[in-house]
Amino acid sequence: MLLDDLWEGEMAGVRIDTTSVLLVNVDGDVHAYENRCPHQAWALDVGEFDGDRIICTRHLWEFDSRSGAGISPADCRLKSFRCRVDSDGVIRVVLP
Ligand code: FES
Repeated sequence: MLLDDLWEGEMAGVRIDTTSVLLVNVDGDVHAYENRCPHQAWALDVGEFDGDRIICTRHLWEFDSRSGAGISPADCRLKSFRCRVDSDGVIRVVLP
């Protein structure tokens, strides 16, 4: 995916090999997480992103978009992946 296709304040789900990845553009920085809520595995790209929090629509769990840390509840975390934006504007995600 190109950075031009993921504007600030947007998130999108992409498939990389067999992994569903959530890309989030937070103030120009792209973060990558597993596109799977740690509660009951709901896809997060169909949730909401208010610029700070990613909100799962299933039961409204909330996560910090910059770290993936749980906000409500706090004892959970999104699985994060390293990612970068190359000089050609392509968002690259490193899967384990
Ligand atoms: S599945 Fe996400 S909050 Fe329950």
